[in-house]
Amino acid sequence: MPAQDVLVIGLGYVGLPLAVQAARAGFRVTGFDTSAVIAAGLNAGRSHVDDVSADEVAAARALGFTATADLAEVGPQDVIVICVPTPLSEADGPDLSAVRAAAQTAGRLLRPGTLVSLESTTYPGTTDEVVRPLLEKASGLSAGVDFALVFSPERIDPGNPEFGLVNTPKIVGGSTADCAAAATAFYGQICDQVVQAASAREAEMAKLLENTYRHVNIALVNEMAIFCRELDIDLQDAIRCAATKPFGFQPFYPGPGVGGHCIPIDPNYLSYKVRTLGYPFRFVELAQEINGRMPGYVTERAAELLNRNAQPVNGARVLLLGVTYKKDIADQRESPARPIARKLRARGAQVAYHDPYVPSWQVDGQDIPRAADLQPAAAAADLVILLQAHRDYDLPRIAGAARLLLDTRGVVPKTPATPRVEAL
Ligand SMILES: NC(=O)c1ccc[n+]([C@@H]2O[C@H](COP(=O)([O-])OP(=O)(O)OC[C@H]3O[C@@H](n4cnc5c(N)ncnc54)[C@H](O)[C@@H]3O)[C@@H](O)[C@H]2O)c1
Repeated sequence: MPAQDVLVIGLGYVGLPLAVQAARAGFRVTGFDTSAVIAAGLNAGRSHVDDVSADEVAAARALGFTATADLAEVGPQDVIVICVPTPLSEADGPDLSAVRAAAQTAGRLLRPGTLVSLESTTYPGTTDEVVRPLLEKASGLSAGVDFALVFSPERIDPGNPEFGLVNTPKIVGGSTADCAAAATAFYGQICDQVVQAASAREAEMAKLLENTYRHVNIALVNEMAIFCRELDIDLQDAIRCAATKPFGFQPFYPGPGVGGHCIPIDPNYLSYKVRTLGYPFRFVELAQEINGRMPGYVTERAAELLNRNAQPVNGARVLLLGVTYKKDIADQRESPARPIARKLRARGAQVAYHDPYVPSWQVDGQDIPRAADLQPAAAAADLVILLQAHRDYDLPRIAGAARLLLDTRGVVPKTPATPRVEAL
């Protein structure tokens, strides 16, 4: 394989694993990030992303990977992959400013034959209606004629030890069949399997379908958790039984709310697009409403448990365990832990937290005290709330020490030795 120049724009949770893997596959990889701190850290062999170790960054560096925040250092490229953030705007609509800026950057570095791949999650139509005109204007070239343009969603699942970039099938959807073929040739050297969509729109829709599916099903079990408690039904046990069906059912589990960059945000991109048709995407809006209410429900349950012990929330010492949005990773984006801490503090609780991945934690600009030693802190708290069951947690031991434990994940074993454990 001839060495090709690959530029990855945006070196975060999505871009960095791709850059490292492309270097491993034999490409000459440059990473461009607007953050000079991130670029300098990577060049010094440090990783800021959970799933990429410092050793892997150092190995990629040894294979020629360089990061930069200075476009003057970047020449024309054979492949350009855009992995920049797609957050929500003030009005909860899509904020494509980073995608637009990255497309302008890519347009300046295009040459005939270049493949441009957009990996940022976005609404259907973005590749052809937003990115394509910017690339063509900046380069003076035509997509599908002079250069190839595709959408290829990143399907990374941070912290998943089984599935990563290489063994998760990679979807590509091109502006033309030749564009999809060019992308298949590129990603085929990095990933085990490449799946072609009919066009960029179907590839964009596939990603949003995956995330909306999760969002809606999580909302379904969250709503069930609330009424099952009132009906005195153990929902976790019902899910365990339903999951034995070998077809037609996939288990989802209730929790304190949804977090991360994908589930709380991406479905908004789809509902924005549907609203342009003049009607709402009701499933998404309902799921958002239900999932968005979970931090409030957790707070109510906490108050109820304390009350049962004749204690008001005001003045109670509450220890939150696991404040990241997902277990076994350090990412705190959109974590439901923050609204839960905010609501408890507003009711006068003295909130502390423990999280092996989070050395310091702020809520509304205020430092929340960190429990350094888990067991004594669990024993001293009036109420422990398990929000993320990180692998490091010895749950039976924590449950044995806690005076009262609210298990929002349904994972703490219930035994005669742990009578003070309550599931969500
Ligand atoms: N994190 C995930 O698990 C995940 C999974 C699938 C898809 N995605 C999607 O991938 C995209 C990127 O997400 P992420 O989690 O990697 O974000 P991130 O915030 O971790 O990383 C994005 C990086 O892009 C840089 N950046 C911002 N604007 C830039 C610009 N104009 N030019 C160059 N660099 C720029 C930022 O400094 C940052 O380092 C988003 O659309 C997201 O929805 C994320």
